[in-house]
Amino acid sequence: MTRRPWIVGNWKMNLMRGEAITLAREVAAIARDVEGRVDVGIAPPAIWLDPCVGAADGTPLAVYGQNCSTAEKGAFTGDISASMYRDAGAVGTLVGHSERRHVFGETDEQTATKVQRALELGLDVILCVGELLDERRSGATFEVVERQLRVALEGIDLSRITIAYEPVWAIGTGEVATPEQAQEVHSQIRAWVRENYGDSDADSIRIQYGGSAKPGNAAGLLAGPDVDGLLVGGAALTAADFGAIISAAAG
Ligand code: 13P
Repeated sequence: MTRRPWIVGNWKMNLMRGEAITLAREVAAIARDVEGRVDVGIAPPAIWLDPCVGAADGTPLAVYGQNCSTAEKGAFTGDISASMYRDAGAVGTLVGHSERRHVFGETDEQTATKVQRALELGLDVILCVGELLDERRSGATFEVVERQLRVALEGIDLSRITIAYEPVWAIGTGEVATPEQAQEVHSQIRAWVRENYGDSDADSIRIQYGGSAKPGNAAGLLAGPDVDGLLVGGAALTAADFGAIISAAAG
């Protein structure tokens, strides 16, 4: 089965309002150009979601949140619920990004709750998983990834889930995983989905790679048969670089 490439830019805590709107407009035009060949998304800072949704209106560009609350609503100062993202026009959200796990100390259990909350409140989910450098060095890569997947996806219908494999040591470091390293873990993830959810989910679920993806390495990473897309940080902050990555995915 063919899985359409799925390229998402995670803007993290970057760009001011005017810059965000300009970039969203530029990426929306690119998304229109590759419609039907590559699916394109952006995850802007939540405060710029509304104007970015406006910039994407009428185009195939998907606008995502970067995170969501474990709760539906209430006394959670500073938090943003999945239903608020939905109401602002987001169609999905990242959950379990390594910066949420390792900078903000979010646990596997909190990540699992966020996956459930996002799905029940109407958002698709990109679930991020990945090992630390020490874990890779000690040979624990898939043990860690498997635990993150198992806890977050227990009892979850996978039809609205993308998995993003983001080795933590490759994020923002310029040290990209080799295409072989990415493909190896992606194939293990797909085998895990096959064993636990069956052939149909394993064949259809899209698995993105993230971690120092750039115009110069995108085609090589995407050549892996189980690498279905990219979750891009730094290189998603200019239309030139992000557009080049999308072009690599369009082939
Ligand atoms: P970089 O592409 O900047 O390494 O970030 C990857 C990432 O964390 C995307 O979510």
